[in-house]
Amino acid sequence: MIIVANWKAYVSDAAQAKKLVAFAKRLASTTKIKLVLAPSAPHAALLALGNRSKVAFAAQDISPATDGASTGESTAQTYARAGVTYAIIGHSERRAQGETDADITEKVRRALAQGLIPIVCVGERERDASAEYLAFIRAELAAVLTPLSHKERLGLIVAYEPIWAIGKSAVEAISGNDLAEMVLYIRKVLGEYLPHKAPAHVPVLYGGSVEPGNVRELAAASRVDGFLVGRASVDPVSFAGLVKALRA
Ligand code: PGA
Repeated sequence: MIIVANWKAYVSDAAQAKKLVAFAKRLASTTKIKLVLAPSAPHAALLALGNRSKVAFAAQDISPATDGASTGESTAQTYARAGVTYAIIGHSERRAQGETDADITEKVRRALAQGLIPIVCVGERERDASAEYLAFIRAELAAVLTPLSHKERLGLIVAYEPIWAIGKSAVEAISGNDLAEMVLYIRKVLGEYLPHKAPAHVPVLYGGSVEPGNVRELAAASRVDGFLVGRASVDPVSFAGLVKALRA
């Protein structure tokens, strides 16, 4: 099980960021759940450099550019050298800023080339009665997977994050049954792009209003491998609550 804490732009104070990391390190020593923290770009290097703890760090996004004449870009290489080991790619909040499928593929390649594990986000805007969201998820996955080699595909983590469920409360998040169906569906699509039995090796996470109050049910109802958590991950009480709920 893995919990990725997407701090988004919630934590602007470096002292608060350091406190959250210290807290996560203590928490990590009490659990087998892998904890991955995704701070803002300026804090990522500050917090991850020389990291030898059980907690890992993720970039919230990486540049499709390589090192060189690219003003303002935070490249995969820069993150990797700063001690970061994962990269969230294709988050709906980045896609909303104009990130394209081609950008996402390029970012995945850059991440893999630098040894970062890409956490590729997919998710529909809304759930329609005729289940067109399934075709939408299939198309998003296909756009990322098609240009990649089998080896590259096997290096990914997929995060299913329905846009309608992000930044709400637990009651508005997905139900356990619906999540179970989506995880199966995503694995089925992955199966079309990977050799026999390999899809089971690509972790599938869920994100969207995950809280201590719903995380256990979501984990119990589905074959999800972990969670990508925004708001609840920057509050130490909720973050510890998530870990406790999954352990219980
Ligand atoms: P949320 O965000 O947990 O605040 O809904 C999840 C995400 O966007 O990654």
